[in-house]
Amino acid sequence: MAKMRAVQVAKAGGPLELVEKEIPQPAAGYVRVKVHACGICHSDSLTVEGHWPGIDYPRVPGHEVAGVVDAMGAGVLGWKAGDRVGIGWYGGSCGYCDRCRRGDFVACLINPQVSGISFDGGYAEYIVVPKEALALIPDEISFVDAGPLMCAGVTTFNSLRNSGARAGDLLAVHGIGGLGHLAVQYASRMGFHTVAIARGEDKAALAKKLGAHEYIDSTARNPAEALAKMGGAKVILTTVTSGKAMGEVLGGLGVDGKLLMVGASMEPIAVTSLQLIGGRKSVAGWPSGSSIDSQDTMRFSALTGVRPMIQEMPLERAAEGYKLMMDNKARFRVVLTMNEGA
Ligand SMILES: NC(=O)c1ccc[n+]([C@@H]2O[C@H](COP(=O)([O-])OP(=O)(O)OC[C@H]3O[C@@H](n4cnc5c(N)ncnc54)[C@H](OP(=O)(O)O)[C@@H]3O)[C@@H](O)[C@H]2O)c1
Ligand SMILES: [Zn+2]
Repeated sequence: MAKMRAVQVAKAGGPLELVEKEIPQPAAGYVRVKVHACGICHSDSLTVEGHWPGIDYPRVPGHEVAGVVDAMGAGVLGWKAGDRVGIGWYGGSCGYCDRCRRGDFVACLINPQVSGISFDGGYAEYIVVPKEALALIPDEISFVDAGPLMCAGVTTFNSLRNSGARAGDLLAVHGIGGLGHLAVQYASRMGFHTVAIARGEDKAALAKKLGAHEYIDSTARNPAEALAKMGGAKVILTTVTSGKAMGEVLGGLGVDGKLLMVGASMEPIAVTSLQLIGGRKSVAGWPSGSSIDSQDTMRFSALTGVRPMIQEMPLERAAEGYKLMMDNKARFRVVLTMNEGA
C-alpha cells in the first residue's frame, strides 16, 4: 500500500506528530483530494486538546484544506480528477433530517460531519471527504490563499452577510487574528463603517491597511465606551477566544444592535437583561457555512481582492505553526504546504 505523510494527535492533549499512514481509498460518495495547503485554525485546538466530545483518536486535524481531486468513489457526479477544491469545517450532513430537507445543511440535526474531527483532516498529503464537502476554488485564488478562506473566510463572510447590518451601518470586528483580519476586509468591502478592536497599538496600522476605518486599542480605551461615542454598533462581530472579553464590548451596541459571536469560548459571557431590553439588543452565534457558502466566499474574495495574510510552513512544522497560532503570534494565518510542485 502506498504511504503518505500526515500530522496527527494520538490522544486528547497529545502532541502533533509527523507519521506515515496508508493513502486512504474513497468509498462510494467520497472523494480523495491531494492536499496542497491547509490553514491552522484556532478551532483545531478542539481536536488537539480534546474539547470536542467523541473524537476517535488518533486524529489528523485540519479543516482549511485546498488541493485537487485525485480519486473518486462510485456515485460522485459533477467532479473530475484535477478539479481545484477546498474543504472546510462543514464535512457533510445526513441529508434527510428536518434541517437538511430545508437546505440548512450546516444545522444538520442527525449527523453533522466535521473535517478534522469526524474524519481525518488536512494536515496530510491526502484527505478523503464526503462529496458534499467540496467547494470549487476559482482560478484567481491560489491554494495557500484558498485554505484559510475555507474556515476563517467563510465564517466571517457568511456571518457578516447574514448579520442584518446594511451598507453604511457601524460594524465592529472584535479581535484581529485569523478570522478577524479577514472579517475587517469583508466588512469594509461590503460597505460597512468598519471599526477594528484589538489589544495593543501594534495592530492599528495593519487593521487600517486591511480596510478598517477606525481602530480601537482595547488596552488603552474602554472599547464599549469608544463604540458608544461613535453612535453604537449595529453589529459587533466578535472573533476572540475569551468570553470575558466578549462581555466587555457588549455596551458598544446601538439600538437594535447585535453581538454576533463566532469566536468559541468555554467561559460564560456576563450580560444582564437590562443591557439588552432598552435598545432591543441581542446576542447570537454563527457557525461557518456550507460548501456553497465557501464557494460564495471565494468568488467574493476573487472579485474584491480579499486575501488572507499568511505565513507558509511545510507540513512537518505543523506543531511549530500550531504553537505560533495558540501564542497569538501568527500574522495572521499559518498555512501548511505539501505536495508542492506535484
Ligand atoms: N463560529 C465558527 O464557525 C468558527 C470558525 C472558525 C473559528 N472559530 C473560533 O473563532 C476564534 C478565533 O479563531 P482564529 O483562528 O481567528 O484564532 P486566532 O488567530 O488565534 O485569533 C484569536 C483572537 O482572539 C483574541 N484573544 C485571544 N485571547 C484573548 C483574550 N484573553 N482577551 C481578548 N482577546 C483575546 C486575539 O485578539 P487580539 O487581536 O486582541 O490579540 C486574537 O485576535 C476561536 O475561538 C475559534 O475556535 C469559530
Ligand atoms: Zn476553523
